Amino acid sequence: MTDAPDPASQAPTLRGTLRPLYRALLGEGMRARLRPLTYPADTAFRAALWRGAQGAVAAGPFTGLKLAPRPFLPHLLGTYERELHPTIDALCTRKWKRVINIGGGNGFYIAGLGRRIPGAELIVFELTAEARAVIAATMTRNGLQDRMTILGAADQSNFAAALGDGEDTLVVIDVEGLEIELTDLTRIPGLRRATLLVETHDVIRPGCRDAVVAHLGATHAVNAIPTQARTLADFPRELSPWLMRLAPSRCVEAVQEWRGGPQEWLLLEPR
Ligand SMILES: C[S@@+](CC[C@H](N)C(=O)[O-])C[C@H]1O[C@@H](n2cnc3c(N)ncnc32)[C@H](O)[C@@H]1O
Repeated sequence: MTDAPDPASQAPTLRGTLRPLYRALLGEGMRARLRPLTYPADTAFRAALWRGAQGAVAAGPFTGLKLAPRPFLPHLLGTYERELHPTIDALCTRKWKRVINIGGGNGFYIAGLGRRIPGAELIVFELTAEARAVIAATMTRNGLQDRMTILGAADQSNFAAALGDGEDTLVVIDVEGLEIELTDLTRIPGLRRATLLVETHDVIRPGCRDAVVAHLGATHAVNAIPTQARTLADFPRELSPWLMRLAPSRCVEAVQEWRGGPQEWLLLEPR
């Protein structure tokens, strides 16, 4: 997943030309405050969705998860990675001692899984301090702060330490290519008994998917789940039928995940 393109990137040419100057002159905080003026339609659209969903995930396995303001819209709509919804639901019926999420982003997965898997220890690795702050806020908003550990950038050594023997541990990995190193059984022996859901990123690092299968294919059953295109039919009509009628192109845009090309997730379960 990448961030949605800024509306300015699709705006008329003059606006597009002035954009670098605007960004150079005003910091992120000021730009955010001015956003209702610079992008009024986008702001109103987002506000309508936020109000409709009451600030929580509207559908899917993490329905009801409270989000930080200005969420990624597929998170709010509950359409995010809908290809995985049956898999997530099935995983959440099992008993886990620990859930580890590498590449936590804004905490959608670690908090969503935390709510669905009561009592499990929750460990999340996230590279950026800004995202770690959002994760902490999201965990607190959902009452999960007492079970969480938020760590910085993952590598083979700190992941191996967090994983231990891997028993009863669910690992969700989405780190833009680093999945090759993080599935190396020779360096991380606890992988042998862990169940993993790995997003592969051949679009960023060619050969990722095959490298992960080469690492774990002998010890784990592999189930590959491909990404699918998004259309207006993905937008949750019940959330706002009138927005679907008035602004269908915005609704189609709201469910996009802005991937660089087709991808696959791998569900890897110990044999
Ligand atoms: C595509 S995003 C994950 C999105 C997340 N799955 C979600 O649902 O919102 C990838 C994240 O990995 C983080 N990241 C990159 N390298 C990392 C590393 N070595 N350890 C932990 N996080 C890392 C990035 O900062 C980014 O937030």
